[in-house]
Amino acid sequence: MSEEEIRDEIAAADAVRPEQHDYAIRIRGLVNRFGDVVIHDHLDLDVRSGEILGVVGGSGTGKSVLMRSIVGLQTPAEGEIEVFGTTLATIADEEDSRDLRRRWGVMFQGGALFSTLSVAENIQVPLREYYPRIDQKLLDEIAAYKVEMVGLPPDAGPKFPAELSGGMVKRAGLARALALDPALLFLDEPTAGLDPIGAAKFDELIRELADTMGLTVFLITHDLDTLYATCDRVAVLAEKKVIAVGTIPELLATEHPWIQDYFNGPRGRAAADCNQTHRAG
Ligand SMILES: Nc1ncnc2c1ncn2[C@@H]1O[C@H](COP(=O)(O)OP(=O)(O)OP(=O)(O)O)[C@@H](O)[C@H]1O
Ligand SMILES: [Mg+2]
Repeated sequence: MSEEEIRDEIAAADAVRPEQHDYAIRIRGLVNRFGDVVIHDHLDLDVRSGEILGVVGGSGTGKSVLMRSIVGLQTPAEGEIEVFGTTLATIADEEDSRDLRRRWGVMFQGGALFSTLSVAENIQVPLREYYPRIDQKLLDEIAAYKVEMVGLPPDAGPKFPAELSGGMVKRAGLARALALDPALLFLDEPTAGLDPIGAAKFDELIRELADTMGLTVFLITHDLDTLYATCDRVAVLAEKKVIAVGTIPELLATEHPWIQDYFNGPRGRAAADCNQTHRAG
């Protein structure tokens, strides 16, 4: 692939320029059902460009289904989802759809690396898909750069997922989600299963990458420490809708019992205290 061709591709991708939009994601009247079971009932949500939005809610409230709807893996029964001002479902042109899709990276719940591919090969999967003509040398260089970016040692590249610790698998998953230099990053429970120190380091990494790359992050988590450490705002999923969105102090000011229990329960208090100590120290 010539330098000129690569420039052309990048220019085409820039047609969906994130900085032109106040909102990275706008969801209106979203309905999702499986058979008779309603998961989302006219859900609305705005994700501002450049923010890290935490998404919380009880297990099974439909956080992962919401994320899958936004990235086009789950077709909603009703409603509109706009990403950078474009509605994915209405894009007729395959090229335009690809241009939009390559502006986001996804880290699925559980990590989901391909077990038969090395870390470097996993990172190269989206690159091969979207830039089929990139030569192997450049692919290797990009993979090595992403490995470094997420704080993995250089020798992690040729390793297989089974040879890595849980924390390293998470970082490798993040590296793959960042393969296409996305403007928008989706993370589904990224710190689940990590020890508290590993989780705190991962939180720091996400905050740092988001700040340096100007990313918008849609971050599903049960981890209260993650919410305090990384998120600009938090959206609460309950009763098949987003019942509240705001900063943690704003949410604490609402009366909703689930929100009060969540943030003011023993775990919520511990996370809040810990956060205050960090900030003071
Ligand atoms: N493909 C599917 N077919 C049928 N039901 C599904 C499907 N995917 C999800 N569900 C159901 O939708 C509901 C919401 O699932 P989802 O995975 O979004 O929950 P969640 O909020 O991410 O939960 P957790 O916090 O445990 O990850 C669940 O009851 C789940 O069983
Ligand atoms: Mg989930």
